[in-house]
Amino acid sequence: MPDVRTATPDAIAHAAALLQAGHLVAFPTETVYGLGANALNADAVERIFKAKGRPASNPIIVHVDRPEAVDAIAIVDDVSRRLMAALWPGPLTLVLTKLNVVPNIVTAGGPTVAVRMPRHNIALALISAAGVPLAAPSANRSESLSPTTAEHVADGLGDAIELILDGGPCEVGIESTVVDASTDPVRILRPGMVTAAMISAAIGVGVQTYRNPLPVGRPAAAPGQLPRHYAPATPLLIVKDAVERALASPGSAVLTYRGETGTGENSVVLPGDPAGYAAGLYAALHKLDRVNADVILVEQVPSSDDWRAIRDRLNRASRQPGDNLNQP
Ligand code: TXA
Ligand code: MG
Repeated sequence: MPDVRTATPDAIAHAAALLQAGHLVAFPTETVYGLGANALNADAVERIFKAKGRPASNPIIVHVDRPEAVDAIAIVDDVSRRLMAALWPGPLTLVLTKLNVVPNIVTAGGPTVAVRMPRHNIALALISAAGVPLAAPSANRSESLSPTTAEHVADGLGDAIELILDGGPCEVGIESTVVDASTDPVRILRPGMVTAAMISAAIGVGVQTYRNPLPVGRPAAAPGQLPRHYAPATPLLIVKDAVERALASPGSAVLTYRGETGTGENSVVLPGDPAGYAAGLYAALHKLDRVNADVILVEQVPSSDDWRAIRDRLNRASRQPGDNLNQP
C-alpha cells in the first residue's frame, strides 16, 4: 500500500524532501489531486509518465506558488499578467511560450508550457517547501476518472508513487480551465469552472473555446483532449429521463441532480447548481463505478455556459474505449 499521510507541516516537509530527491508525491489542489514531480528534473517527470501510463505526446502542467515564479520558466505578456492578477490562485491554467530551462519531456517536445497557481494551502506550502515548480497531472491512470480524495489516488495509482498527502476532498472537483495564452486572441483549450465570461471580464475581450475534434491539418494545440477521457470503467449513458430508465432497468446505476441530494446503493443525487455538482461529480462516478452496474445512467445537465465544463467531462466519460483509436 502507498504511504498516505495527513498533510501536517512535518508530512509536507517530508514530501518536499522526496520531491527534491526526484520522487513522486500526490497532493491535493482545489480542482483534483495532482501527481507531482520536480518540473526541472527530466528523470523525475519521466516517472510521472510511467506511473500514469501517459503517452509521451501529452504535456504536463507546471504548478507555481506565486505569479512571479512563472517569469523563470515562460514568457509572460500583458494579457497573461492580467489573467494571473484576476484569477490566480485558482482553477485556471495558462499555456505560454516556454524558456529553455523547462525540460522537453514536460512539454512533450513542444514550444509551450502550461502553468497554474493552485488555490490550495497544502499545494502552495508544498511547492514553496520543495523550492521548485512542480509538474503535476491529475493523479490517476491515463484516461480514467480524476481523483478528488486521497483514497481515489491510492485506489488508482497504488504502489506507483512514494507518498500521498491527504488534504481531504477537493473543493472545485473538476480540472482547471486551460487557456492558450501564447496566441492572440487567447483560446480556451479545456473548459473548467473558470468560464469564458470570467476570462473575458479579466482581459476585456471575448474568448473562443476550441472545439474537439481538432480541425484536420491543425496542430494538436490541446494534445491531451482525447474524446474518451475522465471515464469510469462501467459504460456511461447520458439521458433525459435517467430516473425512469433506471427504474425500468434493475442492473443500472443512476446519477441525477434534481430533488433531494443524497446517495443510495446504486444512485447519487448531486446538488442542482454547477459548483455543487462539479464538486461531487468524480466522487459520484468513482462510487457508481464500484457497484458492478451494467451501465451508469446520467441525467442530462442544462445547456447553459456555467454547466459547460461539466457537460465536457460527462461527454468524454460517455465515450467508448475504442473512440480514441482514430485520433492522430
Ligand atoms: O486542475 C488541473 O489542471 C489538474 C491539477 C492537478 O492541477 N491537473 C490536470 O492535469 O488536470 P492533466 O495532465 O490531467 O491535464 C492537463 C491538460 C491536458 O489536457 C494537457 O494536454 C494540457 O493540459 N496541457 C498541458 N500542457 C500543455 C501545453 N503546453 N499546451 C497545451 N495543452 C497542454
Ligand atoms: Mg488528467
